[in-house]
Amino acid sequence: MSLPAPTRTLVLGAGGREHAIAWKLAAEPGVNEVIVAPGSAASGHESRGSVRPGCDPLDADALVELARRTSAELVVVGPEAPLAVGAVDALADAGIAAFGPTRAAARLETSKAFCHEVAEAAGVRMARARAFGGGDLAAAEAFVRELDEGGAGIVLKADGLAGGKGVIVASSGQQALELLPSFLERRPADAPALVIEERLDGREASVIAICDGTRAVGLPAARDHKRLCDGDAGPNTGGMGAYSPLPDFDDEAVEAVIETVHRPILAEMARRGSAFRGFLYAGLMLTDQGPALLECNVRLGDPEAQVILPRLAAPLGALLLAAARGRLPDAIPSSLPVFPGATVGVVLAAKGYPGTPRRGDAIRGVEAAEASGALVFHAGTIERPGGGFGTSGGRVLPVVGRGHDVPAARIAAETAAEAISWDGLQRRHDIARDLPEPAAAIGASR
Ligand code: AMP
Ligand code: GLY
Repeated sequence: MSLPAPTRTLVLGAGGREHAIAWKLAAEPGVNEVIVAPGSAASGHESRGSVRPGCDPLDADALVELARRTSAELVVVGPEAPLAVGAVDALADAGIAAFGPTRAAARLETSKAFCHEVAEAAGVRMARARAFGGGDLAAAEAFVRELDEGGAGIVLKADGLAGGKGVIVASSGQQALELLPSFLERRPADAPALVIEERLDGREASVIAICDGTRAVGLPAARDHKRLCDGDAGPNTGGMGAYSPLPDFDDEAVEAVIETVHRPILAEMARRGSAFRGFLYAGLMLTDQGPALLECNVRLGDPEAQVILPRLAAPLGALLLAAARGRLPDAIPSSLPVFPGATVGVVLAAKGYPGTPRRGDAIRGVEAAEASGALVFHAGTIERPGGGFGTSGGRVLPVVGRGHDVPAARIAAETAAEAISWDGLQRRHDIARDLPEPAAAIGASR
């Protein structure tokens, strides 16, 4: 599979995910420059890397201008927000190859109600669910009671984008009833505001595919740890750590998900006239009855990207350029080659995250962490005037350890995380610790 590679790529975004994309692209043959806009403090430190800190990724005209000025052959959109406002539509209208879905196709993530509708039409299994508008309090209460009386747990999901924080897994039917008004008040009556789902049990897995509108090729599976605290306690966050590969979800299981989840969704989106190009992320629950789709995202996961991309033994830039043009090879396999070994990522977060993170704390120990062999990607950091880095966001530094297997990679990640400190640093100490037995390969049994 030999595809032309972009020599100049513009990556939009400023998080750890975008740093990892830039790190991967910058090391590929034939690359002259990878520009990250606006980028984080250190994403421009990669060799052949640079940042454009002033760029607003939500300003479509400015993006087109920047892509032209930097002679980018390919634009890769990292986060969901620019996709939701039509960054790819504007770039495509200007004749610039952009990898990511159009605004209409991004609805798979920006509306959980739409995702359910498409999955149902495509025959993809999700949790039992119903969508409610701002005026539907009585109907929403009735659905909560119905689920509760049937013995199901209840999950409340705000319909729009919420950075992974708009979902509440209720502790009881009563709690769900009490929370309903906060999801519905001040929302229009005629548009979905809330999706109420039955709670599913199992381990989660993220399976992300590179899609060109009709074809899909899977990246290695990863597992995110979404709760803030050890033992899956505390509030949901954007993700506090991840690892790959998964002992209970092998390559065959990934290929089965590409076949039974991604391809049917691509076909349904194409049928609706919104062909999906971009990273299609299936957030799965591995239940006793096989994998169920919890959500679609329309981008790489963060921190999943930071553990997936270092494992990838295929040239990313060439694949993304081909997919952006709708021209992945017909004979593309369902999954991509990987390097031997494993990765574990631990997210170091600021005091106050996921509420109101404190900014401006001086970060110590980044060089020592890098010297240990770990990858330190930058998310919420700034360069301090006197040298070194300071905190400037919620999730500050994802550190990634590599090893011959997941336990070895975990030791490498823990060693690097221990080397880094600042006042109020929060992190989990149990990422990739309690691994499932390969024999418990629920997801792989389909
Ligand atoms: P979502 O943004 O829809 O992926 O939800 C965020 C997180 O909430 C998921 O990663 C799960 O941990 C949890 N979650 C969402 N939906 C369900 C569900 N139906 N059952 C159990 N947990 C869920
Ligand atoms: N880590 C989950 C996400 O990126 O949505």
